[in-house]
Amino acid sequence: MAKPLIIGNWKMHKTLSEAVAYVQTVGDALHHLDGVDIVLCPAYPAVGLLDGLLRGTRVALGAQDVAAWDEGSYTGEVSAKMLAGHCHYVIVGHSERRRLLGETQDMISEKIQRAHEAGLQPVVCVSQEAEVDALVPLKSSIQTWIIAFEPLEAIGTGKPSDPATVAAFNTMVRKKLGRGTRVIYGGSVDAGNVRAYLAVSDGVLPGKASLDPQGFLALCQAAVA
Ligand code: PGA
Repeated sequence: MAKPLIIGNWKMHKTLSEAVAYVQTVGDALHHLDGVDIVLCPAYPAVGLLDGLLRGTRVALGAQDVAAWDEGSYTGEVSAKMLAGHCHYVIVGHSERRRLLGETQDMISEKIQRAHEAGLQPVVCVSQEAEVDALVPLKSSIQTWIIAFEPLEAIGTGKPSDPATVAAFNTMVRKKLGRGTRVIYGGSVDAGNVRAYLAVSDGVLPGKASLDPQGFLALCQAAVA
């Protein structure tokens, strides 16, 4: 059975020196934590740097977004091919991008396909059933789904969703996308509640609780305790 996945989403935090200090502080301890698969998702500028620091360790790397296009005149965008040399995972369709940057379902579907073509594993964030329905047409091309259920009212509020609600959502997702779908939960996950979410999901996607290195280590340790 796959190990629980813990994906730390740093969002728009950490300069290069802060990112390096983070890995120097807890990289080794995270590498030695057996029983969970740990992924760090820094902002783009730190991706290459962390690849250098984490390569060969058990801590995997993910990006927070990817372009919907393969390559070309798209100023400011970063392609799946550029990321594939450094990362294994990429977050797609986070609600902050849907809400603040106008990311549409069509763009999200394109991003998932670009990631897949480049050999990256998309981690697709959804907050409601309609966003899962929109993924169903991609089922024939994407074999391995990782879906992050992120209820809007739980993100960054300190008010995580009820585990029973998460369990029911996960069942719905697997019914629609296939039994092998890994569904993880995100929204105010911390060291104190992580086990309750791992009991009903295949992993967690902490944002705020991934920012402090010792705090993130404590969360990962709590997950395997
Ligand atoms: P949070 O963020 O843990 O700070 O609530 C989760 C997310 O947005 O991925």
